[in-house]
Amino acid sequence: MNNIKVFESISEFQKYRKNLTGTVGFVPTMGALHEGHATLLRRSASENENSILSIYVNPTQFNNPTDLEKYPKTFEADLKLAADCGISAILSPSFSEMYSDNYRFKMSENEFSKILCGAHRPGHFDGVLTIVLKFLNIVQPDNAYFGEKDFQQYQLIKDMCHSFLVNCNIVSEKTVREKSGLAMSSRNKRLSSAGFEKAALIYQMLKSTDSVTDIKKKLTADGFEIDYVEEIKNRRFIAVTLEGIRLIDNVEI
Ligand code: PAJ
Repeated sequence: MNNIKVFESISEFQKYRKNLTGTVGFVPTMGALHEGHATLLRRSASENENSILSIYVNPTQFNNPTDLEKYPKTFEADLKLAADCGISAILSPSFSEMYSDNYRFKMSENEFSKILCGAHRPGHFDGVLTIVLKFLNIVQPDNAYFGEKDFQQYQLIKDMCHSFLVNCNIVSEKTVREKSGLAMSSRNKRLSSAGFEKAALIYQMLKSTDSVTDIKKKLTADGFEIDYVEEIKNRRFIAVTLEGIRLIDNVEI
């Protein structure tokens, strides 16, 4: 294990950041790291001289209190994985440091954030954009890495950075999947083994030539509650709930 540094204090991190030389890569996460996150971490480590990981379960992007409360926390394992992937430092601040204004100020977007997940999770993307902008201001990275699994999130962050002249390159990475095709997600840890197997149907449906209507019928018949199945431009998007756990995925079509 390399000597990875862990910062809870933003000001301590900023002192450390000032002394870094060379390029800085940044991977924001909410922890409970899996191979999908690890792919982003390795990519950052291979493309930058320094790589920073943030682990922060951001309350303002959760519209369901149970989802927030049950969000898995695996800090010791995350620390080991981050070190193995070549991360230089972890930033893991408290709510009071990240929201010293108690969320008086927020970032919002009025078009793409209102459809798909935004239509089903009011305020979700305001929370995401706000926290990501705060982290970009703290970390000042040259490159920041995001997964295509959350395509809407990636696109909104890229557009926000363009719009607000944030001097950082927003990089996307392909979705990392289980053998069954199920997109890896921290929330998968909460599925039963039967649910974990069944959830493979999401990717099968994304890849199928069936119509959106038929996909909805099949998923419903198999016990999934549907948030949306939609095709926008060259992508098909699915969001469903299984065993009370919300799962999303998308593919290029
Ligand atoms: P989190 O769900 O922890 O995801 C952190 C990053 O990992 C995101 O960019 C996400 O798209 C990516 N990721 C997750 N699963 C992936 C997979 N199977 N394959 C590839 N990449 C994957 O997304 C968030 O956290 C938060 O909204 C955050 C951006 C940190 C703001 O709070």
